[in-house]
Amino acid sequence: MDSFPDGYRALVIGASGAIGGALVAALRDDPRCALVVGLDRHSQPVIDFAREESVAEAAAALAAQGPFQLIINAAGILHGAAFMPEKKLADLHYDQMLETFRVNTFGPALVLRHFSRLLDRQRSVLALLSAKVGSIEDNRLGGWYSYRASKAALNMLLKTAAIEVRRSNPGALLLALHPGTVNSRLSQPFRGAEIGRPPAVAAQQMLAVIDGLGAEASGQFHSWSGERLPW
Ligand SMILES: NC(=O)c1ccc[n+]([C@@H]2O[C@H](COP(=O)([O-])OP(=O)(O)OC[C@H]3O[C@@H](n4cnc5c(N)ncnc54)[C@H](OP(=O)(O)O)[C@@H]3O)[C@@H](O)[C@H]2O)c1
Repeated sequence: MDSFPDGYRALVIGASGAIGGALVAALRDDPRCALVVGLDRHSQPVIDFAREESVAEAAAALAAQGPFQLIINAAGILHGAAFMPEKKLADLHYDQMLETFRVNTFGPALVLRHFSRLLDRQRSVLALLSAKVGSIEDNRLGGWYSYRASKAALNMLLKTAAIEVRRSNPGALLLALHPGTVNSRLSQPFRGAEIGRPPAVAAQQMLAVIDGLGAEASGQFHSWSGERLPW
C-alpha cells in the first residue's frame, strides 16, 4: 500500500469471513504495515452487529492503538439459517428484512459513527464493503429485496457520512466498495465457488483500488475493478 506512510495501521471488521480474512492476510504480508487488527464476533474486543453496544466498546478499546490509516468493514449477510434471498414480493417478511439490515446497514452505520474518529488526519481510508446489486440504477433483474435495499441504504449512509467527515477530517476517504463475486460462505449457494474469484485475489484487487484513490473520491461507490459504480 504505497499511498500510506511506512508503518501504517489497519483494522478489518468481519475478519472471520472469506474476504475479511483475506484482507487481514494481505495486509499482514505488507512489510510497510505495522499493525493489522482483525475484529469479528469471536475476537477481543468483539464486534457483533446484533449487539449495538459492541461497536462503541470496540472503538473505545482500540482508540489508544490508533490513529488508523485504513479501516475496512467486511462483515455482511445475504442468507441465514432461517432465510434465503427473496425471489418475489410474496417472500417479504420483517424478520429477514430486520436481520439483513441489522448486519448490512445498522452495524456499518455505527462503524461510521464510532470508527471514523479513529482515522488518521493526513491520509486515511474507511471502506465499507457494499455490493453492486445495491445499485438502484443498475438493478435490472429484481429479487433479493432485503439484500439490495440494505446495501442501497448502506451506500446512502456512507455518502452522507462522507459529507460530514470531510468538514472535520479532509484527509479521510470514505468509500463504498464492491468486491465482485468472490468464493465465500455468502456466495456459495449462488454458484460463488464456480464463478467467483478466490478471496486472496479479490483482497489484492480491492487494496489496489484503495491505494489509487485520494480524499477527493470520498463518498463514492467503486468496484474491485477500478470502475466507479452508479448509485
Ligand atoms: N462474496 C461475494 O461474492 C460478495 C459479493 C458482493 C458483496 N459482498 C460483500 O462482501 C462482504 C464480505 O462477504 P464474504 O463473501 O466474505 O462473506 P462471508 O465469508 O460469509 O463473511 C461474512 C462476515 O460477516 C460476519 N457477520 C455475519 N453476521 C454478523 C454480525 N451479526 N455481526 C458481525 N459480523 C457478522 C461473519 O462473521 P461470522 O464468521 O461470525 O459468521 C463474517 O466475518 C459482505 O458485506 C458482502 O455483502 C460479497
